[in-house]
Amino acid sequence: MFLQLLSQSASTVCCLRASELSTPSVKRTSRPSQCAQRSGVRIDQRLEAKRLTKNLALYSTIRLILRPFRSDDVDRMAELFANADFMRFSLGPMNREQSETFLGKILGWDRAGLPSPFAVIDRESETLIGYCGFLHQEVEGRAEIEIGYRFDPRFWNRRLATEAARAVRDHAFRDLLLERVISLIHPDNHASRRATEKNAMHLEKKTTFKAFPTFVFSLSRQQWLQSPRGV
Ligand SMILES: CC(C)(COP(=O)(O)OP(=O)(O)OC[C@H]1O[C@@H](n2cnc3c(N)ncnc32)[C@H](O)[C@@H]1OP(=O)(O)O)[C@@H](O)C(=O)NCCC(=O)NCCS
Repeated sequence: MFLQLLSQSASTVCCLRASELSTPSVKRTSRPSQCAQRSGVRIDQRLEAKRLTKNLALYSTIRLILRPFRSDDVDRMAELFANADFMRFSLGPMNREQSETFLGKILGWDRAGLPSPFAVIDRESETLIGYCGFLHQEVEGRAEIEIGYRFDPRFWNRRLATEAARAVRDHAFRDLLLERVISLIHPDNHASRRATEKNAMHLEKKTTFKAFPTFVFSLSRQQWLQSPRGV
């Protein structure tokens, strides 16, 4: 059985396998990275991430629930993807068909056991307010895993992106054992830049991504391990 309760200040995270959500007992486990280091086993990062992703189905922060997307999220996501503010700094609003394609891509990553975006639920209103999680990108010929997020404009400026992104960042390094994550940000996207900086990510370089000027923010596993917890 895989079940962990882990706490790290604002990004207090509870990870449960879907079939075990009603399990009353709680078993504490050591961090996978520590297990790997102690046993001396060299972990194939991608395979290990794939195995662990399959086991982690639900995260809870102070104000949010992060859960895998489901096919019945399509109506709400189509509503959000049609919103020009939700889609700021992208190729623009998406129609129903494009929304279905995007959601299908996420569900495909989930089925393959690959890191993917989580549906973000506001606990108080029980509303699906957007997504935060992992996107697979290629930047200057290098395969990268991006932490990306978009939220319903009615929920902006409550530090929810920061709360979600920190939980996702910790999940990346603690559970999925990724070596590095990035965030790709348009230079004019000040809110996203600020949220990324609060996620302890560092400006690495400026590039052109999908024809847009783009800042590449990054965080390595080593930097994360050395940073004060809760940052
Ligand atoms: C980017 C986004 C996810 C941020 O969500 P959020 O929940 O409002 O973010 P947070 O409240 O956690 O943090 C935003 C920070 O930016 C600051 N901010 C907001 N607008 C700003 C602006 N125009 N200029 C400078 N700072 C700004 C906020 O004050 C806050 O910083 P603070 O906590 O130090 O006060 C949200 O604006 C969004 O969905 N935008 C459209 C999609 C998008 O751009 N996604 C990112 C693509 S890279």
